[in-house]
Amino acid sequence: MSAKAKKKSPTATKVKKEKEVPEVKPEVELIPVYVMGKRYEVPEGLTLMKAMEYAGYKFIRGCGCRGGTCGACGTVYRKPGNYKLQVALACQKTVEPDMHMAQIPFFPANRAQYEFAELTSAPEEVFKLYPELFRCVACNACTKACPQGIEVMDASSALKQGNIAEAALLSFECIQCGLCTSRCFGELAQYHMFQLARRIYGARILPRAEHLAEMIKAINEGKYDDILDELKHVKKDELQKLYQEREGEPVTAGEDWKTKDKTYL
Ligand code: FES
Repeated sequence: MSAKAKKKSPTATKVKKEKEVPEVKPEVELIPVYVMGKRYEVPEGLTLMKAMEYAGYKFIRGCGCRGGTCGACGTVYRKPGNYKLQVALACQKTVEPDMHMAQIPFFPANRAQYEFAELTSAPEEVFKLYPELFRCVACNACTKACPQGIEVMDASSALKQGNIAEAALLSFECIQCGLCTSRCFGELAQYHMFQLARRIYGARILPRAEHLAEMIKAINEGKYDDILDELKHVKKDELQKLYQEREGEPVTAGEDWKTKDKTYL
């Protein structure tokens, strides 16, 4: 065998032994927590939801957006040395050493049945559907439980006084997690009551948006039929490009803001 061939022979190639890379351990401290009474060690800084998952629990229900907006993950917890039972959204609250936690499953609060089209803006309609509203003793436990910082008790008081608009505006940030109800010993389902208040406010109290009515009329009269037909035949890529390049309304736009391209206005 020639020297050249020898060089090419795979058997002649020296296999370099890979350098052993030392395992780099992330510098995360583990802290003890108790999930439904059982002790686990979980990395600090995790949310209650992630800590429970780290401990091996799997969420099939009681978890939705993971971003504090769907209200699905109500959880109770207690800190060491404190008798108080506290509540939080599991996807928002972070673990603390020796914390005891358990997720609240679906909270079966009273939800009135109604035909919305038949309701007026008379406060008596709400009173009839939710007579327990008057069981509120103004203890304010609901407000303390709200992860959204809503003045829940004030909104209930507004509703009791027949001020549907005030109740709707005060509860506007409600995410229907039901934690207020879980702490209410008057057995009120504040979040369902407020939802009704917001529906009545939006449909019966707030003035109609004129520009919306105008737009619906224009659509019904076929003003946009041609462009919609045209768009139906555009290829997906082109459609995506059109969408990405569309002129968006700036966050700070005033009421009179209009697009530069006025073709379809
Ligand atoms: S998962 Fe939606 S609020 Fe927590």
